[in-house]
Amino acid sequence: MRRLAAILAATAAAFAAVAAVPAGERPASAWAYPDHPLAGITGGFGEPTCHSCHFDGPENDPGGSLELLGLPDRLQPGRRYELRIHLRRPGLAAAGFQLSARTPDGLNAGTWHWPDSTIQHLQQNGISYLTHRKAGTDPTGTDRSEWVVHWTAPDSATTVLFHLAANAANGDASEFGDHTYRIGRQASP
Ligand code: HEC
Repeated sequence: MRRLAAILAATAAAFAAVAAVPAGERPASAWAYPDHPLAGITGGFGEPTCHSCHFDGPENDPGGSLELLGLPDRLQPGRRYELRIHLRRPGLAAAGFQLSARTPDGLNAGTWHWPDSTIQHLQQNGISYLTHRKAGTDPTGTDRSEWVVHWTAPDSATTVLFHLAANAANGDASEFGDHTYRIGRQASP
């Protein structure tokens, strides 16, 4: 127990020390991962969310909002849809997201299409995740970030559950002082 406490204290100190150094002067280190390639943090099917590291603010604080737009009232098998992720919060200076689509059984549903420059595709346990790249973290407007992706529905008629987690960050290149959001949406044939 003592040893664990010591490790936790050392880790916290290391993070705090790095956070205190201006972003441009920070050396590359094992934990600094600009493209942030972490999968399985959408909040769906028992997954954690961005909040497990960006935990300063409460999740889904009403000062901001997260939306997934473009889902149809009735899902047509095999059809391609344009989905838009809208994240808003006063003071937002950097932002990111992670999105998945699964059947009610937790299997991957459909196929993602994304712009390579700002978004990356990760796979874990057979599930496809779309998540921001470093280049996709710049706000797209005042106090907001938007990303556009495309998704082709599965050929078989099934209900699909979308899980979206996002981080409205303060732009200090650390996991502190940010506000995280999460939503779940579903579409049925
Ligand atoms: C395992 C811990 C961890 C999780 C989970 C995590 N992050 Fe991060 N994140 C970090 C760390 C550490 C940094 C700062 C260092 C860096 O950028 O590499 C960071 C930085 C960021 C930044 C830049 C922050 C700023 O203020 O400039 C954004 C944006 C971001 N993360 C988005 C996300 C999103 C979106 C999620 C969830 C889908 C997420 N993070 C989940 C650890 C995490």
